[in-house]
Amino acid sequence: MKRLLSRVVLASGMVLGLAVVSPSFAADAAAGPVKPDIAKGQQLYDQGDAARGVVPCASCHGAGGNSTIPTNPNLAAQPHEYIYKQLTEFRQKEGASGAARKGADGAPSVMSAMVMALTDGDMRNLAGYLSQQKLTAPATATNEKLVENGQKIWRAGLPDRNVPACAGCHSPDGAGIPSQYPRLAGQFPSYIEDQLKLFRAGHRANGPMMLEIADRMADRDIKAVSDYAAGLR
Ligand code: HEC
Ligand code: HEC
Repeated sequence: MKRLLSRVVLASGMVLGLAVVSPSFAADAAAGPVKPDIAKGQQLYDQGDAARGVVPCASCHGAGGNSTIPTNPNLAAQPHEYIYKQLTEFRQKEGASGAARKGADGAPSVMSAMVMALTDGDMRNLAGYLSQQKLTAPATATNEKLVENGQKIWRAGLPDRNVPACAGCHSPDGAGIPSQYPRLAGQFPSYIEDQLKLFRAGHRANGPMMLEIADRMADRDIKAVSDYAAGLR
């Protein structure tokens, strides 16, 4: 366990270095796929496509990815690579027993039904559109008593349990680092908490780094750091 994590952290340090110099579309450009069509992404996000059975994303995730319902995460201003990755992983791969990213108790996530009719191009267009939206009504921290512990974990991790500082990957202000590390600042605290528990339980099996990290955290640590991260700006 210990060895694996230090390798993970090392590898992520290399990615961190790269992220600073590469523009956000560099990975796509290198791999070859066409640039996302932002207008098409917006149309699908707002209106869905009844003929193909695509439900409007806006009905749950709000205008421009600004959700008003804590169980439905904010999507505005997430790196497009991260959004695209999640959309592909809500879907069950051929031969797999389920999607890599599942929901509560290991049951299919609500999102698994939502991505069923999406093409690869749809996913890229949606991700491109959402990554360009502003988080207009970010969530805030809600529990003053947890701030101190939350801040400690965010900035320094839990050294006695080999939990690295969240800031190292999600950036000190919680804005995330394209392409790999999602934004947590302004996300709903209850959503962040739920995801950490899903990683820990192995139901969300699409982020090996997070699985190892959450595995070493107690409920009270998860609660504190989730609340703190939500309040970052
Ligand atoms: C019925 C409500 C609903 C609809 C419609 C919906 N979503 Fe979701 N979405 C959710 C919920 C709930 C989650 C959290 C899922 C989980 O934790 O398993 C989520 C999670 C996500 C995530 C992961 C976010 C993260 O931070 O990891 C992405 C990306 C996403 N949705 C994109 C979309 C897109 C694009 C559409 C339209 C094609 C869409 N959603 C339609 C409810 C919905
Ligand atoms: C070594 C780098 C690294 C560190 C350190 C790290 N994370 Fe992450 N985190 C990631 C990666 C990579 C993902 C994206 C996983 C995926 O692709 O689904 C992620 C995803 C998440 C998510 C899911 C976000 C969403 O929108 O669904 C949460 C919540 C999270 N991390 C919280 C934390 C917290 C809290 C800490 C500190 C205790 C932390 N992370 C430390 C790399 C890291």
